[in-house]
Amino acid sequence: MNKKGTESKGVGSFTLLDNRSGEKYELPVFDGTDGPSVIDIRKVYARTDCFTYDPGFTSTASCYSQITYIDGEAGILRYRGYPIQELAEKSDYLEVCYLLLHGELPNAAEKEEFVHNITYHTMVDERINFFLRGFPRSAHPMAVICGVVSALAAFYHDNLDISDPKQRIIASHRLIAKLPTIASMAFKYSLGQPFVYPRNDLTYCENFLRMMFSVPCEDYKPNPVLARALDKIFILHADHEQNASTSTVRLAGSTGANPFACIAAGIASLWGPAHGGANEAVLNMLQEIGSKDRVPEFMKRAKDKDDPFRLMGFGHRVYKNYDPRAAVLRESAHEVLDDLGVKDEPLLELAMELERIALEDDYFVKKKLFPNVDFYSGIILKAMGIPTSMFTVMFALGRTVGWIAQWKEMIEDPEQKIGRPRQLYTGATERAFVPVEKRK
Ligand code: SDX
Repeated sequence: MNKKGTESKGVGSFTLLDNRSGEKYELPVFDGTDGPSVIDIRKVYARTDCFTYDPGFTSTASCYSQITYIDGEAGILRYRGYPIQELAEKSDYLEVCYLLLHGELPNAAEKEEFVHNITYHTMVDERINFFLRGFPRSAHPMAVICGVVSALAAFYHDNLDISDPKQRIIASHRLIAKLPTIASMAFKYSLGQPFVYPRNDLTYCENFLRMMFSVPCEDYKPNPVLARALDKIFILHADHEQNASTSTVRLAGSTGANPFACIAAGIASLWGPAHGGANEAVLNMLQEIGSKDRVPEFMKRAKDKDDPFRLMGFGHRVYKNYDPRAAVLRESAHEVLDDLGVKDEPLLELAMELERIALEDDYFVKKKLFPNVDFYSGIILKAMGIPTSMFTVMFALGRTVGWIAQWKEMIEDPEQKIGRPRQLYTGATERAFVPVEKRK
């Protein structure tokens, strides 16, 4: 399968007719292996002296990619061709990391070596401990991990030649391995508890749970049910095509910035409540609604154009069908609560009632607003004892491999160049400077 699109066998090209001059321009069409073809508009400005206009880039392909495929209408999500449902059920997170980074599922030897590489990069430089001490204990953990991840460049910058494939892979391993350690340090710091070092005899998710919840005063054995649920959550959050934070990472990376700075930029972008911050916003919203009898009041607000309130965890820029990740997480929420013996969790009951009402509501049906990945994830994380403020950090932990895989694909793309969108200028035309004494 060649990396680039192929000249379309179907449409072939589009003809752009400039009605001002009567001139016609042929625009080539490229087909991918799945999903919509693209019209190559790279020469439109040179030929027409006009930019194309697409705020939010909702109709624009910024690159070609072989990593993740989404069909928003059909509710399809595949990593390197594998349906997300199968990976969530049959694979594990580090295996999916290998798949996203290298394009194929690892064989046994490749898997063992990859897991070893990640395991032996989980520690952070001891001086990072002092970084945490500079933050207020009340700092939002996203502010902490954004700062600390960016600062990792200070420890590796002098041996980080992004043009060297070996150094790119080491940086990738370091980021995947160290994010859980940094995230758990942010959590421990907020509690005033000692940091917990990673252990090499635990799996990725067992290690994270232990770094989050163990204390020196007693032994801690990670709950295998929670570790498995967490592994599934990370798989479901691992990548999602050219979403806002991934596009941020690609744009930052297109300047040649180091991968730690690029991933920190992705973390910053993910933090927004319209993006990865939604899982935290969903829990806050469910707690604000409080009971099923208040659902109609909030549904009314969600539909009111004059009310900024939106039903968090609903709607998606691409999915106009049920987000396949939400479907898996919905099942997982029931499994985790059952395994933990949590009966009738009011927030899950409320979430399901909210979903039932929304899926029958004309406004939501017409606008194709379905639950997205953030709608159920918070209920599982809360059941694990993870505080709401850490929910978006959990999203960032899962997504780090996707950001890195997309960054690596961009760096290895021979056609890649620095990203530089243009604009339609609507500001003041040229005017002479007026000295202050002459201004009104
Ligand atoms: C993620 O891009 C990705 O792939 C992101 C992500 C990933 O994995 O990286 O999937 C992760 O970010 C999931 C989305 C999490 N965000 C939320 O749950 C926040 C609540 N949802 C929205 O803010 C909203 O749905 C967005 C931001 C997700 C999408 O915004 P759009 O593209 O503007 O939504 P739209 O064009 O589909 O909206 C169509 C209409 C609009 O009304 P009109 O202007 O047409 O009258 O539906 C309305 C919107 O106002 N609408 C909502 C709504 N979402 C859209 N109305 C009420 N509640 C909502 N949640």
